[in-house]
Amino acid sequence: MGISLKTVISLLLAGAAVATSKSRPLASRYRSQAKAASVESFKEDATGETSGTFYFPSWAGAYLNTSDVTSATGTFTVPTISVPPGGDSSTNYCGCAWVGIDGVTNLCDGALMQAGVDWCIQDGVASYSAWYEWWPAEAQQFWDDVTVSAGDVITVSVTASSTTGGSTTLENTSNGQSASYTWSGESPDLCEVTAEWIVEDFTIGDGMVAFADYGSVTFTGNSAVVGGTTVGLDGAYIAEMVSTTDGSDVISESTISGNDITVTYQ
Ligand SMILES: *[C@@H]1O[C@H](CO)[C@@H](O)[C@H](O)[C@H]1NC(C)=O
Ligand SMILES: *[C@@H]1O[C@H](CO)[C@@H](O)[C@H](O)[C@H]1NC(C)=O
Repeated sequence: MGISLKTVISLLLAGAAVATSKSRPLASRYRSQAKAASVESFKEDATGETSGTFYFPSWAGAYLNTSDVTSATGTFTVPTISVPPGGDSSTNYCGCAWVGIDGVTNLCDGALMQAGVDWCIQDGVASYSAWYEWWPAEAQQFWDDVTVSAGDVITVSVTASSTTGGSTTLENTSNGQSASYTWSGESPDLCEVTAEWIVEDFTIGDGMVAFADYGSVTFTGNSAVVGGTTVGLDGAYIAEMVSTTDGSDVISESTISGNDITVTYQ
């Protein structure tokens, strides 16, 4: 009662403006956000580089920068999360880990195909969910019958069958439960130029969420299909999450050892 059509239209327009705004601020560990139903995980621009390590505002991990990438797979343990030192337990602190294709904006002005797990902690309660996303469409919760908790070992893969479709599977290797989703006729197209394994300070509404202390996340068993051949991380680039474009304030650091990637909260 009492809400005019004009108000409804202006609210819809305001919502549309937020939804289409894809620029984002630099990372902050202490930014406060209301709790929301779903994550929005973004493509990212590398903002600087030092000898093969590229700086990103809200990503850490690693990526292959090549061509003809059609699949990426990785396994990680869902981390136990906590309020960062000096934080406020009533704030909603979150983050996510995912595997995807074409997330680096500098290299692909197209879709990002991804799936992973997000986590949040507020008022002492930690929550987790699994999702998939064909960016810029919003992330979708994977399924209701599988719940994710700290300590679960999750294997995620995304596979492109064309530049406008493909599939993703997310499996709890601890109990073999898995779920899949198939994309078709999606837009925009994939470029198929990167495969990435990322921990992200994702966005809720129009800002990055306050970033939870996740300790560290190690992606193991990582592989990608490049030019029809399964490859490991040889020649992968490191992504480091920094709050400054010169890379001086590292929020999450990444290291590669063989085919494993460890991302550590700083
Ligand atoms: C991608 O790889 C090319 C070399 O093939 C390199 O010049 C460029 O800096 C890399 N960009 C990123 C963002 O990794
Ligand atoms: C994953 O498997 C473990 C071991 O059975 C179980 O404790 C946990 O609840 C499962 N998580 C999901 C996502 O079902």
